Amino acid sequence: MKTLFAITGLAIATLTTFNLRAADDLLLADFEGKDYGQWKTTGEAFGSGPAPGKLPGQMQVEGFLGKGLVNSFRGGDRSTGTLTSPEFKIERKFITFLIGGGGHVGKTCMNLLVDGNVVRTATGPNTSPGGSEELAPASWDVGELAGKTAQIQIVDNATGGWGHINVDQIVLSDKPAAMAVKTMTRERELTIEKRYLHFPVKNGTKKGKKQRVAVLVGGEVVREFEMDLADEPEWFAHLDMTAWRGKKATVRVDKLAEDAKALSLITQADTIWGVDQLYREPLRGQLHFSPRRGWNNDPNGMVFADGEYHLYFQHNPYGWPWGNMHWGHAVSRDLVHWEELPIALYPHQFGDWAFSGGAVVDKNNTSGWKKSDNELIVATYTSTGRGECIVYSNDRGRTFQEFEGNPIIKHKGRDPRPLWYAPGKHWVVAVYDFEKEKSIALYTSPDLKTWTFQSRIADFFECADLFELPVDGDVAKKKWVLTAASSDYMIGTFDGKNFTPETPKLKGHLGKGFYAAQTFSHDPKGRIVQVGWLQTATVGMPFNQAMSFPLILNLRTTPEGPRLTWTPAPELESLRAKSHRCDATTLQPDSANPLAGVTGELVELRAEFEPGDASEVTFTVRGATIVYDAKKQELVVNDLRAPAPLRDGKQRLTIFCDRTALEIFASDGLTYVPLPFQPAADNLALGVQVKGGNAKINALEAFNLRSIWK
Ligand code: FRU
Repeated sequence: MKTLFAITGLAIATLTTFNLRAADDLLLADFEGKDYGQWKTTGEAFGSGPAPGKLPGQMQVEGFLGKGLVNSFRGGDRSTGTLTSPEFKIERKFITFLIGGGGHVGKTCMNLLVDGNVVRTATGPNTSPGGSEELAPASWDVGELAGKTAQIQIVDNATGGWGHINVDQIVLSDKPAAMAVKTMTRERELTIEKRYLHFPVKNGTKKGKKQRVAVLVGGEVVREFEMDLADEPEWFAHLDMTAWRGKKATVRVDKLAEDAKALSLITQADTIWGVDQLYREPLRGQLHFSPRRGWNNDPNGMVFADGEYHLYFQHNPYGWPWGNMHWGHAVSRDLVHWEELPIALYPHQFGDWAFSGGAVVDKNNTSGWKKSDNELIVATYTSTGRGECIVYSNDRGRTFQEFEGNPIIKHKGRDPRPLWYAPGKHWVVAVYDFEKEKSIALYTSPDLKTWTFQSRIADFFECADLFELPVDGDVAKKKWVLTAASSDYMIGTFDGKNFTPETPKLKGHLGKGFYAAQTFSHDPKGRIVQVGWLQTATVGMPFNQAMSFPLILNLRTTPEGPRLTWTPAPELESLRAKSHRCDATTLQPDSANPLAGVTGELVELRAEFEPGDASEVTFTVRGATIVYDAKKQELVVNDLRAPAPLRDGKQRLTIFCDRTALEIFASDGLTYVPLPFQPAADNLALGVQVKGGNAKINALEAFNLRSIWK
């Protein structure tokens, strides 16, 4: 593109100096200089040169090219004036430009003058509140004026609301401006009268189409996130505005189509949306925790303190997919029934998200942060914009204060998991580290404030966990287990600084969709209790994903050495509503189904059997088939195979079925198979049958379970 006359006024080119090809665009002005060059101003509105974007007191100005534009907001909306170009010849069919600001014809406008007469005019898009400062492409067809001498005059004669005009990139061209779908930034003001703002959401808008939403109070951004704002919402996400009740707030949303209604669909309420159906939604897991609204991934900050188990979690409160990472929060007194509490950690700022981490109680107040009778909960997490950070809570994990020395560790890594190393009376953080290679790094600290790098164990990826367990329940024979997101693990020794493996990396769970598990700090019964992210996609629901059962981990001696076992926490037995116990029996291939007539939506099935000469013992639970392949000593769940060795010729199997997942335990916990699974709502049948020979069923019991939400 050629420049018609330079806007800086230093180089003055005329048409005759150009050797033009017919189709070349001619740049009239891009307003990139520090003054207007040969353009002349009157009044104050246009100042002495292009504006660098927004001017004092103005909303964010977007949609202009380069660094500068014409912006008549000098001194606010009241200033007036004109900005007039030198004469030029109309040598193309179109004049294209970017224009924004006030939509007052003849008052906030850009005119084309020929012989001193206005022959074309254009205004900005805004006449009423809620507009945006986004410039949009526009053009004039000037074919009939070919060869004429003309001038551009930008006018601001308006003194009221939207009394300014923004212009950029004026070009003579043979093509009209590309009229892309016009989107803009808009604002809405409201007084916060209720607890929540409700935002209309639709699941699954295409990537990159998300809106950025900022909520401002007193001119400051207090919350900022991305979401799929929708004119035809499927549900409403809530934003807790308790802290700003009674205040005036502005909601600013970008990329809104010109006719979008979403901004006006934002409402206020004291309860969350859809509360009458809460926890009764068709795909709401009834045995597993999931957030009320929005997305969860990893469990975080799992700690027992003052009688409560705390389950924090990676949370997108404003949409169905991953994003906007916050720490959601839920508490339980029995590991079974969970109450979701307000969000515990908001992102430090937009783009600086609260990624995963763990929590402990600082029982000896080594940090000096204890300020109440409550146990002092200390959490470590990744602040993606800063590094590994530490926060503490004196109000039972409801809110957290920042340690002023944050970040405590700066490196390439994430997901710091703190623990107390009692023999050395110091703290340890196990953290994923990819400074050199994928590994887990160990840091130590006497007081949770200063941290020293100690060692690194290669070949682990994100969400480290490190804990000690007795082998076969013998407290004199303890080993340490190092694990990470995949749930693969190593067993070894740990001296507070170095972990020394005694096994290669071993396979963790043998199912699917179980990830980033973490164990509770300070279980009151001294157990190691693990919860994993259960990746159950709940399509069409106002929430997505879930958490696994609380799982009791143990180390058991096997012919190959000690191995981890997973069993469901016994607390889950409190959900049993009704039992169907079958007598011990020998099943033949043509035997009647001992569970005929037993039905259930939420089911626990327990069996102990000796396969004998049967080749297969098959359990059916709501359409899922769980086959024990006796020859291979493997479980085949739907299509997934998992080794499940017999013990003393016996197999003990426990199957849980929820609306969105199965959790299966075999070989006394050596085999743990979690699996996302959505049974057909009307298939409630249970069954057992054998193939190829007879199997002895020593015990068989099915339970109907109650919902954890009741
Ligand atoms: C694991 C993970 C973590 C990270 C978090 C972000 O699922 O990738 O490493 O902290 O999720 O949500």
